[in-house]
Amino acid sequence: MRIDKLLTAMGLATRSEAAKAAKKGLIKVNGIVVSKADLKVDPEKDVIEYMGKNVSYMKNIYIMLNKPSGIVSSTDGKDGITVISLLPDELQKCGLFPCGRLDKDTVGLLLLTNDGSTSHYLLSPKRHVSKIYRVKTERPVSQNDISKLEKGIELDHGDVALPAKVEQIGEKELYITIVEGMYHQIKRMLEAVDNKVVFLERVEFGKIPLDTSLQRGEWRYLTQDEINILLEQTK
Ligand code: URA
Repeated sequence: MRIDKLLTAMGLATRSEAAKAAKKGLIKVNGIVVSKADLKVDPEKDVIEYMGKNVSYMKNIYIMLNKPSGIVSSTDGKDGITVISLLPDELQKCGLFPCGRLDKDTVGLLLLTNDGSTSHYLLSPKRHVSKIYRVKTERPVSQNDISKLEKGIELDHGDVALPAKVEQIGEKELYITIVEGMYHQIKRMLEAVDNKVVFLERVEFGKIPLDTSLQRGEWRYLTQDEINILLEQTK
């Protein structure tokens, strides 16, 4: 693999930045400075250094984003500013896409990856991957409403939501855990008990909690432990 392609794929540099870095002697392979950015390297075996730091090649990229409100979770900019445009330029060209969608007004944990098969598994309705939402409602939620949500509830258009886990944290605030991802599911579940969602935040996806040190709009790479937790759920 060409070294400039590797650095681009890792989101570390654009092709022209890699070429400039090579000219300036900022790229080393196995301890030796390389001046050509098109040099072929073996990412599995060669030790690559870029700007003084070791580069460990990851074929797949996994990112946690704390999604702000007002931004669509698609890759297509025709709907306005997308979650992908919150990433640095280099990462915008790595083929990343959101693993599932959050509504424009929903905030919180969104995973972005270029790993299609893992994403497919995690989103498959058969896998029952859990998602936890913090929900604020317009009106107080009664014990009877909670029982209905916990039993599984009929939504509009004849859909039925599987039993959810509900934890009440205030008279108008809940944590709801679901194992599906139907369109507007949480909003429709609350509508089914004659209520309305006024704030929705995803706080966990696939057993990975939102990193609360990330401000809205900020992102970070998943740690190897977090990636392992995700991959475990695809087996
Ligand atoms: N349920 C919703 O209603 N909206 C989301 O964005 C996610 C879950």
